[in-house]
Amino acid sequence: MDREHFEITGLGGRMTLEGILPVRGAKNSVLKALAASIIFDDPLKIENVPDIEDVGRVCEMLEFAGATVTRKSAGASICVVPAQTWKSELNPTIAGKLRASVVLTGPLLARAGEVRFPFPGGCVLGERPIDLFLLGFQAMGCDIQEAGDQFIIRTARGLTGGYIFFPLVSVTATETLMLAAVLAEGETVLANAAMEPEIALLADFLNLCGAHIEGAGTPTIRIQGHAGALLTARGRAFLTPPDRIETGTFILLAALAGKDIRIEKCQPAHLGALLSVLARAGVNLETGSNHITVRGKPGYRNLSVRTHEYPGFPTDLQAPMAVFMTQAEGEATLLETIFDGRFRYADDLIRMGADITIMNPHRILVRGPRKLVRKELESPDLRAGLAYVMAASIAEGTSIINNAYVIDRGYEHI
Ligand code: EPZ
Repeated sequence: MDREHFEITGLGGRMTLEGILPVRGAKNSVLKALAASIIFDDPLKIENVPDIEDVGRVCEMLEFAGATVTRKSAGASICVVPAQTWKSELNPTIAGKLRASVVLTGPLLARAGEVRFPFPGGCVLGERPIDLFLLGFQAMGCDIQEAGDQFIIRTARGLTGGYIFFPLVSVTATETLMLAAVLAEGETVLANAAMEPEIALLADFLNLCGAHIEGAGTPTIRIQGHAGALLTARGRAFLTPPDRIETGTFILLAALAGKDIRIEKCQPAHLGALLSVLARAGVNLETGSNHITVRGKPGYRNLSVRTHEYPGFPTDLQAPMAVFMTQAEGEATLLETIFDGRFRYADDLIRMGADITIMNPHRILVRGPRKLVRKELESPDLRAGLAYVMAASIAEGTSIINNAYVIDRGYEHI
């Protein structure tokens, strides 16, 4: 899969795409379910796993830590057999490149009493510190040391429950500390927690396997810790939910280039913010409980959008939304409130013909509609990379998108 570039001949504004697009399992759910396998006593099966690079990397991290991982049918199902003894270190090569690796620190710490890891890498979206994780570990009784480029977190007598208020809402910090708290002694409260549906689904599954987590999906999560007693899957499988960011991107592309596209195996209920803005913009959407049909037509209205933690407008759909806005009538702003480096794609869209003014690192102004033309582009990160795929698909001529690897990291055979 490690391809170098995509070559895309665009439709030049024609709305001719027809057919059915099934949505794959959610990257940002499956990676956390894989991390959760560490707090299990027996093998954990995970289904509807997308065949993407990040899944492979996290499986390698589990193997490095001592687990045995088997994958079936191009990744559709994975089984993680827990280690006899977990290694208290994250694979430094992978951890340095993959932000999701940080989620393994919570469960490994709970199992091994110690975890060593480098500062986690990942898509460059601006500063991505880990202070919230450290704050949480401290509240759970850990000692934290920094030695060279490594963090070393230790607990002398096991994790203890604590009250953790997150000054900022963080998806992976919520997940990491929730997983650690399952094996802690006593109650942990996570306040101002992230409310992503993937977190609630994971908590529901962990509860079926013996955990006591209340409130996941709300800002306050209470976990009654098991003082080290492990969860048991007893043959139950975690079913990865559909990827709501992939769904959202397909909807946006269908609105711009689709004659009649049915997006299947998705959960429109998780995309309220996007669907509401698109309905107001004039996109013809027909929504069922697990499918959406989009019939594109010219003449959408441009509306301003502001990213927000779930259930607000997802930051991961911000770049695809910008492409949509280049084709809608009128001017509107796009305000990014989660990350401070997420407009790196804007200059390339401008080179393709978009009329975008970068007002500051958090806000752009988009005027549409403008015809886009072919360009050679360098994919800056996963979601912006997909926005380039969208832009190239509607542009005139053949575009090249280099650094395709970052797109394969999160999308199966896009
Ligand atoms: C998760 O990243 C997702 N990644 C991201 O998906 C997504 O963009 C993001 O949540 C927001 O929805 C995974 O789930 C693996 P955050 P995460 O911690 O958890 C600041 C994709 O393409 N912060 O919720 O790393 C941080 O800098 C991606 O799939 C701290 O200040 O994001 C940001 O401004 C990319 N200190 C804000 O919080 C910390 O210790 C929210 O980030 C942690 C975060």
